[in-house]
Amino acid sequence: MPTTNRQILLNGRPDGEPKASDFRLGEAPIPKPGPGQFLIRNHYLSLDPFQRGRMNANWRYGRKLEIGDVMIGSTVGEIIESYHPAWRTGTFVEGLLGWQEYALHDGEGGRQDYGPGLTRVDPKVAPVSTALGVLGTSGETAYWSIIDVAKPRPGDTVVISGAAGAVGTIAGQICKILGARVVGIAGSDDKVDYITRELGFDAGINYKTTPNLLDTLRQYCPDRIDVYYDNVGGEIADMMFRHLAKGARYIVVGRIANYNDAKPRLMPDLFPLIMTSRAQVHGFIVFDYEDRIREARAQLARWIDDGKIKYRETIAHGLENAPAAFMSMLKGGNTGKQLVKLFPDAR
Ligand SMILES: NC(=O)c1ccc[n+]([C@@H]2O[C@H](COP(=O)([O-])OP(=O)(O)OC[C@H]3O[C@@H](n4cnc5c(N)ncnc54)[C@H](OP(=O)(O)O)[C@@H]3O)[C@@H](O)[C@H]2O)c1
Repeated sequence: MPTTNRQILLNGRPDGEPKASDFRLGEAPIPKPGPGQFLIRNHYLSLDPFQRGRMNANWRYGRKLEIGDVMIGSTVGEIIESYHPAWRTGTFVEGLLGWQEYALHDGEGGRQDYGPGLTRVDPKVAPVSTALGVLGTSGETAYWSIIDVAKPRPGDTVVISGAAGAVGTIAGQICKILGARVVGIAGSDDKVDYITRELGFDAGINYKTTPNLLDTLRQYCPDRIDVYYDNVGGEIADMMFRHLAKGARYIVVGRIANYNDAKPRLMPDLFPLIMTSRAQVHGFIVFDYEDRIREARAQLARWIDDGKIKYRETIAHGLENAPAAFMSMLKGGNTGKQLVKLFPDAR
């Protein structure tokens, strides 16, 4: 049994894009569980855009990180030692256990707002890594934002940015299941090939090479956009307002293009476009659906079984490579869910 718990700590607050020196590999003794506690050996770590925001001093909701803190992040792992009657050795769990190899827990705490609670994971349903992606927060985000907020109707044209990522790939496939026409926006030709050829999106746009995004949108969405699913913010999102159909829904899910900005971006210039298109702009936060996690996971698992939803994982190996994988993900290095496999024998 090893005695050292390797951890990635916040070493500095990024000024713009994060860099390697903003992270530090630390070592602590593996904690010893006491009565009512148990020890988890993490198998996979989830790398998510929201973690970038938590590195800032002026983070607005949820717990902000202090210098020296273990980086915030969800993991899936196995209970390897337990002194808690309800949490047995051998059980797989998912929770906000941080960028570290081992974690102590007492089974308490809710999951609201990335709370400290745990969710049990059944390895018989799917590989445990999916509890961080398609059957975890990414899948739940896609599911509820489409089913309960965007509500595309058959024949609607839906445009999804961040289309080849963890949330976008699943959101687009759910829209296809519901009968919509789906156009994805992604940052490479390989990603466009993936979403159109493998996932069944109707069209894809490489926003990095298209000479004029608005012209390309006019070409792929001749009847304008009924639903814009905004995973990225920035100039791509601004452009969508110029091509919305009357009564369109504009769903704000993520703003990754703005996460490195020092100041929040205000967009009053776009208000006339909202007025003329009579669009409805909806904000979405997955925490609001914490009490409906099982419902989303069960439906997504059925769709995977039926072959209606496919998923991909981009996996880095070893905790020491988590910062590089995180920085790569923020710049588009991933297709589907970005994970770190923490041990060679991870399940
Ligand atoms: N509201 C919620 O409850 C909720 C929950 C989960 C996630 N989110 C948000 O949803 C979005 C997607 O999250 P995810 O976990 O699925 O991440 P992801 O899409 O798997 O990874 C991030 C992707 O963003 C793209 N990207 C990076 N910078 C960009 C830019 N300047 N312009 C356009 N695209 C850019 C990159 O792909 P390309 O190669 O295509 O550039 C990259 O692969 C994020 O904004 C995240 O914060 C929101």
